[in-house]
Amino acid sequence: MDRTLILCWILLLCIPTGPVYSQYYLKTVPCATKEKKVTNLHFFFHGTLGGKNPTAVTVARANITSNDNSFPAPSNSIVVDNASLTIGPEPTSEIIGYAQGLEVFSGQDRTTVVVYLDFGFTKGDLNGSSIGLFSRNPATEKERELAVVGGRGKFRMAKGFALLKTFSLDNITLIVEYNVTVIHY
Ligand SMILES: *[C@@H]1O[C@H](CO)[C@@H](O)[C@H](O)[C@H]1NC(C)=O
Ligand SMILES: *[C@@H]1O[C@H](CO)[C@@H](O)[C@H](O)[C@H]1NC(C)=O
Ligand SMILES: *[C@@H]1O[C@H](CO)[C@@H](O)[C@H](O)[C@H]1NC(C)=O
Ligand SMILES: *[C@@H]1O[C@H](CO)[C@@H](O)[C@H](O)[C@H]1NC(C)=O
Ligand SMILES: *[C@@H]1O[C@H](CO)[C@@H](O)[C@H](O)[C@H]1NC(C)=O
Repeated sequence: MDRTLILCWILLLCIPTGPVYSQYYLKTVPCATKEKKVTNLHFFFHGTLGGKNPTAVTVARANITSNDNSFPAPSNSIVVDNASLTIGPEPTSEIIGYAQGLEVFSGQDRTTVVVYLDFGFTKGDLNGSSIGLFSRNPATEKERELAVVGGRGKFRMAKGFALLKTFSLDNITLIVEYNVTVIHY
């Protein structure tokens, strides 16, 4: 027998088979039914729309609206948000989290805003958990409903709704009362 051939075979068989990182993985199994919980949350949203430390800033607008100085934002514009969430309506009330994301003032109709906001909590048991709101927000209506489409941490797989009532609005400060109901794992 050819010794080199045997050596080749041995070498081939000894090639280490390391982990395969690029393997496509797909597995579907029946979903284990987990008991769901319902959580009600009550808090206030504080937005500052101007001044030295605004929590809402217009970052983009169509140039056809360059003469539009409407409050709180011109039509066809995008506002970036980092509003604080507090226990009570007073500006000094304890902060329990932040609402971060985008508000889109689409079209000519400035009265309806579409919001894409993550409400992240920073207090106690809920620290690190958040709920995701993706919804239209008919901001000029006194009472309104927003959709909760998901969540993280304690709010995994969340679905629900938020009921909003404007508590106060002066020149630059908007305070909104939130009652949120979410069903989650
Ligand atoms: C908007 O942008 C377009 C294209 O850059 C330009 O032609 C037009 O003059 C701009 N309009 C205004 C009001 O600035
Ligand atoms: C959001 O605002 C708060 C208070 O103004 C600030 O402490 C925090 O760092 C801000 N978050 C981000 C991501 O900028
Ligand atoms: C919340 O979690 C962050 C990150 O895990 C941690 O740094 C912070 O101290 C926690 N805050 C509270 C109030 O537990
Ligand atoms: C939230 O619920 C409380 C208690 O049911 C109620 O008094 C309050 O008006 C509600 N607020 C909103 C914004 O729905
Ligand atoms: C709101 O604006 C009006 C006029 O623009 C001014 O007189 C008033 O002092 C402002 N109020 C606050 C709370 O800034």
